[in-house]
Amino acid sequence: MDINRLLADRARAIDASGIRRVFELGSKLKNPCNLSIGQPDFPAPDAVKRAAIDAIAADRNGYTLTQGVAELRSRIERALGVDLGWDLAPGSGASVLVTSGTSGALLLACFALLGPGDEIVIPDPWFVLYPHLATLCGARAVPCATGPDGRMTAQRVEPLLTGRTKIVLFNSPANPTGVVATRDECADLLDLCRRRGVLLISDEIYDEFCYSESRTDRFAGDAGRACCPSPARFEGAQEDVLVVRGFGKTYGVTGWRMGYAAGPTALVEQMAKFQQYTFVCAPAPLQWGCAAALDADMSGHVSEYESRRDLVVDRLREVTDLPFPGGAFYAFPRVPARLGLSGSRLVERAVERSVLVIPGAVFSSRDEHFRLGFATSREQLERGLDEIVGLLRG
Ligand SMILES: Cc1ncc(COP(=O)(O)O)c(C=O)c1O
Repeated sequence: MDINRLLADRARAIDASGIRRVFELGSKLKNPCNLSIGQPDFPAPDAVKRAAIDAIAADRNGYTLTQGVAELRSRIERALGVDLGWDLAPGSGASVLVTSGTSGALLLACFALLGPGDEIVIPDPWFVLYPHLATLCGARAVPCATGPDGRMTAQRVEPLLTGRTKIVLFNSPANPTGVVATRDECADLLDLCRRRGVLLISDEIYDEFCYSESRTDRFAGDAGRACCPSPARFEGAQEDVLVVRGFGKTYGVTGWRMGYAAGPTALVEQMAKFQQYTFVCAPAPLQWGCAAALDADMSGHVSEYESRRDLVVDRLREVTDLPFPGGAFYAFPRVPARLGLSGSRLVERAVERSVLVIPGAVFSSRDEHFRLGFATSREQLERGLDEIVGLLRG
């Protein structure tokens, strides 16, 4: 049978060849130095693993409520109360939905909001799923060029808003640049979205990986602690912002596929409806593991990543420029124009030296950068940086 003839337009509209090519090239290398990785290299905390194992042993293996087990939801509600000052009690107008990864939350939100002809503004460079959220809904993704500093400011977003815009999708700390928005930038973007009646989705999957100089905001419930700025930390934001967060990156459990969304109940209920008929619920025993995760202290790992970030920035700044990665575990350096190479060509040259990085064209309409991930051992990182700096020197 000619299956290709049967495929839907949305299958044809998605091309996954960019990243696959890097992995294929990498699989042929003997001793690759892999800086293409998008997940932490530390193990999950023991208490988190133990809670999931205990849940399996206690036969908590069946379907859960679509919204997630009450124990996890109440832990999340408490965390968002402290962190964002949100009131998620029944009748507050805002609620939480536990999802299959952050990706699951983003997809459900877009299913609930976007139809043919609708528009979603996404950053350029973007996380690879973002343009396809629109494709999957028959909608249009409108990229917002974030400039050499990688900042998705209200000023850059405003000219892109039309009568069809439903969502502005914001990501800080960002993948692939690591850029962290300031409090003022968050405030301006929220204000713009409110004025224009557009939902702001704040993808905060890297919120824990926010380094000292970027932690300029305050926990709403704990005035003493500095934290990552968020558009969700302003008065009344729970009515206008959908916050999406994950467990995978923060606690080293990306394969568990655990995340959550919190925001206006009218939207979260629609997302729950779609979850009921698609994912059904997030993985049951892992919901118990994640309930324990919210108590874990990850600050040691975050400090280690901060010092790796320092190393990466110091070395790369010798030879090129890059948006400053105040968070996450990526850098997005530009290939210097004097080399006359596209991002993709640079990546091929890096592979010839056994170093794997990802071409910027996978994340952007332009092919002038590459993404280097530093969630890998210091030894690998130093080896990879020596090669990359050599290449960029020309
Ligand atoms: C910005 C961003 N959002 C969402 C995701 C998806 O995360 P999850 O594995 O929780 O679905 C990722 C994963 O790399 C990401 O970088």
